[in-house]
Amino acid sequence: MSEIVYLNGEFMPADEARIPVLDRGFIFGDGVYEVIPVYSQRPFRLVEHFQRLQRSLDAVRIANPLSGPEWVRLIEEIVARNPGEDQSVYLQVTRGVAKRDHAFPKDAKQTVFVMSGPLSTPGPDKIEHGVAAVTTTDYRWLRCDVKSVSLLANCLLRQHAVDAGAEEVVMLRDGYLSEGSSSNVFAVRNGVLLAPPKNHLVLPGITYDVILELAAATRLPVEVREIPEAEVRGADELWLTSSTKEVLAIATLDGKPVGSGRPGEVFRMMHGEFQIFKRKVMRAAA
Ligand SMILES: Cc1ncc(COP(=O)(O)O)c(C=O)c1O
Repeated sequence: MSEIVYLNGEFMPADEARIPVLDRGFIFGDGVYEVIPVYSQRPFRLVEHFQRLQRSLDAVRIANPLSGPEWVRLIEEIVARNPGEDQSVYLQVTRGVAKRDHAFPKDAKQTVFVMSGPLSTPGPDKIEHGVAAVTTTDYRWLRCDVKSVSLLANCLLRQHAVDAGAEEVVMLRDGYLSEGSSSNVFAVRNGVLLAPPKNHLVLPGITYDVILELAAATRLPVEVREIPEAEVRGADELWLTSSTKEVLAIATLDGKPVGSGRPGEVFRMMHGEFQIFKRKVMRAAA
């Protein structure tokens, strides 16, 4: 059965959805998106995802085509129309259809597309053993804070990881840690959680914020600051975080063990806290 998607005001099976070839999302990657995890049919941190969507839209000067309540209803409906308790909602807004010209069209109407599929979080094996990552230079543009659908660099970077038999890249820009191709990266050194600052060089992850909140709640010492390459390579623990990875330990970096080469103690604590927090939030929303 094909999943049900939403396109410009209508729900339909995914294989029936069509966009015109001159959509600027297709021609230029001129659009923004969000990925929202849904647990037990309830979207997680919806307000925060909408706030980030608004910031992305503002940054690329696309007017938000829907109001807050319209977005909420739409997300609820797409979740209800698709199977599964835990889902991953993908939404995309592009600048719309217009004659090909780099400059913004005067009267194009935004294209709004939403789909939802099963949420696939890391299985017990990855949680238990961690994953491999490889370092690479971050050669993306200087607005990585915008959740843009122009993801060619991220695709190339992820493929670099896949070609190396790894799960993700750990990117370095000018000698400092930035993030992964589709995840934020944290380090732990001497019991202190290190997080790169949220600036134009990283996507402000919704999960990143959850991790910092949980760190504060559990009195884990945190330093939000630039992290030089030497500290990445010498870290006791490295973690990836994202809406679909949740929090995942990196066991090897460039083939060398991170710390003991097994997910560390601080990771185990944080992973447990994350699961408890998720369940608490979902119960409160029920
Ligand atoms: C480049 C990048 N960084 C970080 C993240 C993590 O963000 P979130 O926790 O909101 O999923 C993502 C998520 O897709 C991403 O693409």
